[in-house]
Amino acid sequence: MMSRIFSGIQPTGNLHLGNYLGAIRNWVDLQHQFESIYCVVDLHAITVPQNPAALHQATIEVTASLLAAGIDPKQAIIFNQSRVPQHAELAWIFNCVARLGWLNRMTQFKEKAGKNRENASVGLFAYPALMAADILAYKATHVPVGEDQKQHLELTRDIAGAFNAMVEEDFFPLPEPQIIGEATRVMSLRDGTSKMSKSDASDFSRINMNDDADTIVQKIRKAKTDPDVLPETAEALDDRPEARNLVTIYAALAGTDIDRVLAEYAGQGFGQFKPALADLAVAKLEPVTQAMRRYMDDTAEVIKVLDDGAERAHAIAQPIMSDIRKRLGFLGESLG
Ligand code: TYM
Repeated sequence: MMSRIFSGIQPTGNLHLGNYLGAIRNWVDLQHQFESIYCVVDLHAITVPQNPAALHQATIEVTASLLAAGIDPKQAIIFNQSRVPQHAELAWIFNCVARLGWLNRMTQFKEKAGKNRENASVGLFAYPALMAADILAYKATHVPVGEDQKQHLELTRDIAGAFNAMVEEDFFPLPEPQIIGEATRVMSLRDGTSKMSKSDASDFSRINMNDDADTIVQKIRKAKTDPDVLPETAEALDDRPEARNLVTIYAALAGTDIDRVLAEYAGQGFGQFKPALADLAVAKLEPVTQAMRRYMDDTAEVIKVLDDGAERAHAIAQPIMSDIRKRLGFLGESLG
């Protein structure tokens, strides 16, 4: 079977360094090797309440950052999920394939729903079935994501397998997660045991893709660390989560690995390492931030990319969905 990449990102809040190092940067590399489809998942965003004007703006901003990071709309397809109705249509079918027990195991639902689970939307619970639909509506074979999406991809494979068994045919590929690079799980700058995330109340916990150079420097200067010097081996970082996180970020930004970073900085304290990291982060991120500002000055171009991407995505998903309808015995063609 031909390889096809699919991945998604939510248009909520600021994109941060975790999104960039864990996912987007890999998307940029992969677009040259494979047919690639990158989706701004607005249907996923509304699993929690959204302000419509903010969602609209965030959809444009996230797209601008994908373009600024180097995704080329002539190579890859970039579009927003809600424009291609096959996502929602297939998600419903997958809601009927997935078992309650499978979804009950999803740790991200537990985290996001928090204590007040009775009040979470049904959509938040069914979120991974929509994610499976995103991927399988294109029969994608590879899915580049950060570590936190691994469980959702296992569920996607379970759904694909159950559907294939139901129709007695290898209809869907079982998509492979691609969790690539040094920084598959970037941690908060304030707490090395929790993930860098858009929803953290403290802006100092993350580096945003639209932070200016001064802000980046200040956030790294204030990042939580410990008083020890950097060790010689990666194992010695195991019980130093904050130190490990900063070294990992350095390695990922520099395009090297943790061992090489330690070979250079072993014996030095954070008084020396933090300024080096800040310089590197600014050097790598500033061109992206500046390009993003240029795209935000001309949002018509960004919207045109999304329009074009939606048409191209639809052209792939529509015939696949039509085949699915036939397999299930649905009468007639969908009007979507
Ligand atoms: P989202 O929007 O939370 O994140 C987008 C991508 O960024 C990665 N990521 C991280 N990687 C490393 N360290 C971090 N701290 C970090 N935080 C986020 C995520 O793993 C992800 O790859 N459910 C998905 C979006 C989605 C999707 C899909 C992905 C919807 N449909 C289909 C793949 C295929 C999500 O909420 O990602």
